[in-house]
Amino acid sequence: MQDSIGIFDSGLGGLTVLKSLARHFPQESFCYVGDIARLPYGNKSPETIRKYGDQVLDFLHRQQVKALVIACNSASTMYLGEKDFKGIPLLNVIEPGCRAALEAASDDKIAVLGTSATIRSGAYARILKQLRPQVEVLEQACPLFVPLVEEGMLNDEVTQTIARRYLTHICQQRFKTVILGCTHYPLLRQDLLQVLEPGTQLVESGDVLARELQQLFASGQLPAAHGPSRSLKVQITDLTDHFERLALQLMSPESIGVLEKIVL
Ligand code: DGL
Repeated sequence: MQDSIGIFDSGLGGLTVLKSLARHFPQESFCYVGDIARLPYGNKSPETIRKYGDQVLDFLHRQQVKALVIACNSASTMYLGEKDFKGIPLLNVIEPGCRAALEAASDDKIAVLGTSATIRSGAYARILKQLRPQVEVLEQACPLFVPLVEEGMLNDEVTQTIARRYLTHICQQRFKTVILGCTHYPLLRQDLLQVLEPGTQLVESGDVLARELQQLFASGQLPAAHGPSRSLKVQITDLTDHFERLALQLMSPESIGVLEKIVL
């Protein structure tokens, strides 16, 4: 799969990113790895997340992908500033997410939602302030969001009650730009918009990474695909009927060419 772009997430949430990239780049093939067997990464230590991350990136590297995209925010915090992995261009979601949020914001206030690991790393706040020192950043860990998504509790009153608790300060302090710093959170978009102030802008990883890849293609750093047809391959470290249904549902209407279980 030499012509493919590798995407890595801790689970199926990153399919939101795959779907977005597949839509933006209809000629390109993608190999997605979801480390479902070890999900969640968001409550693990930095050492463990880095170890798991390296194993997944190594796996994709062996498949000879032409670029590596870390969709997982928790894992991205471990690779800040790293532009390649063993010679292959490496993208993470945090730095581009910060740039996109600053461009989108109409004031100097940006809120960040993420897993405990992402928020504990302070990566978003640090980079936002490097890029614009006067920016006010409010970071909020939302550890219950990932299991709610995994259980399919979307557009759900229970999810919205929990969201109301997590988003209290963001609403009270009138933050109008919110980075969804986790692959799962775009799936909660409707629930979050029910709770946030009208007009709040949500910054999503899929759009952010599409822009980054576009720049790599435009600058010639990444060759565009030239095969007759593209393929979407989804490889996960655990496979059950539930995961299979969820994967097909999340990717719809895009169809997955290969869905298989792998050993890292
Ligand atoms: N993929 C993770 C992230 O974007 C969320 C799920 C997890 O905790 O592993 O941070």
